Amino acid sequence: MPDGATLFRRQCGTCHSLTPGEARQGPNLAGVYGRKAGTVPGFKYSAGFADADWTWDDAHLDPYLANPQAVIKGGVMGYRQAKPEIRQSIIAYLKEQH
Ligand code: HEC
Repeated sequence: MPDGATLFRRQCGTCHSLTPGEARQGPNLAGVYGRKAGTVPGFKYSAGFADADWTWDDAHLDPYLANPQAVIKGGVMGYRQAKPEIRQSIIAYLKEQH
């Protein structure tokens, strides 16, 4: 299996940047691990994020990457990853980006 950095680049990088301030289709993910959900300034989140009162950690990222709409009702992230080992590898990579 490719490492977390490669997985991120291939599976998330089209929509998300890790370079602070850089916007793509999705919110910037620099420092996302440990950040409160839905708080990138200027990004227009779907309405469900108004109720997102958690910070992103393993317990929240894992189900979100498996099925975003199960976590954020009406969410618009067009990505789903059924394989737990791939989710874990990407989450571990995001955690290292601090
Ligand atoms: C097709 C584009 C697309 C892909 C691919 C994608 N995302 Fe997203 N992502 C989005 C969009 C759009 C949102 C905002 C969703 C909303 O407003 O409902 C989002 C939101 C997020 C959030 C919430 C961020 C915050 O500020 O609260 C996280 C975390 C996230 N994505 C992680 C990932 C990861 C990790 C991957 C790869 C495994 C990924 N996304 C793949 C488009 C994408």
